[in-house]
Amino acid sequence: MKSIQSILKVKKELQSVKDSGLSIGFVPTMGFFHKGHLKLMEEAKKENDLAVVSIFVNPTQFGEGEDFGKYPRDLKRDQEMAESAGVDIVFNPSAEDIYLDGLQTEIAVSKLSSVLCGKNRKGHFTGVATVVAKLLNIVEPDKAYFGLKDYQQYLIVCQMVKDLNINVNIVGVPTVRDEDGLAASSRNIYLAYDEREEALILYECLKKAQRLLDGGIRNTSQIKKVLKEMLDLKNLVTLEYLEIVNKDTLEAVENIENQALVAIAAKVGKARLIDNMVIG
Ligand code: PAF
Repeated sequence: MKSIQSILKVKKELQSVKDSGLSIGFVPTMGFFHKGHLKLMEEAKKENDLAVVSIFVNPTQFGEGEDFGKYPRDLKRDQEMAESAGVDIVFNPSAEDIYLDGLQTEIAVSKLSSVLCGKNRKGHFTGVATVVAKLLNIVEPDKAYFGLKDYQQYLIVCQMVKDLNINVNIVGVPTVRDEDGLAASSRNIYLAYDEREEALILYECLKKAQRLLDGGIRNTSQIKKVLKEMLDLKNLVTLEYLEIVNKDTLEAVENIENQALVAIAAKVGKARLIDNMVIG
């Protein structure tokens, strides 16, 4: 496995890969790998000749007062984990290299970014879309892999790639969970033991929504009421949002016809956690 920091060097390296007709699977990440990342890497390796992973804690997607400074980082551990997942190239550019003298161009995927996490994290998805576009332009992969835990991010990247005619296939990979159901996230490291126990309520709520729908309750206000009552019982969990929306447009749904996305964001201790499930 090669570790490359420079944009020019990685472009050169990947050009020779492309010249020899090999396919590239790309996993953009912010590092501090967990088993969700490993799954993305394994898929990239399985479906392509070469797997490339980028590690870049992108400052522009963190808002004021968010955890950019404290975001967990461990390059050595990440490199070892990537190697064990069969990754061929780890690309870890510096912020100076990515943002040079400042950036005048931004990509805003307006409608999809205005709801759910976009409501409370102003500018977050513009930061994500812009850096993902830059990384896709640098790596020029055949396929790029995104975890469906960040479902809204996945939809936004799909829309951006479509809108800007970027020549890449975006692959959404199902959420990886711990045995107790907690969705894998780099931010789980912030959770104390009792907080982690209470954080399980997020997945419990998603499963409950599915059961309510199975039981014939299609009205989303009714479903949300039950879930909110469950969340209210957890003292360490502060709900940010609980929404039931169209799984393609993220628009609110009143009565579920076929499928809908249940999305939750909550603060548990210092960790801001999100989870979601397509029900129906
Ligand atoms: O999902 C993430 O880790 C980040 O948002 C991404 C896609 C790597 C962009 O910085």
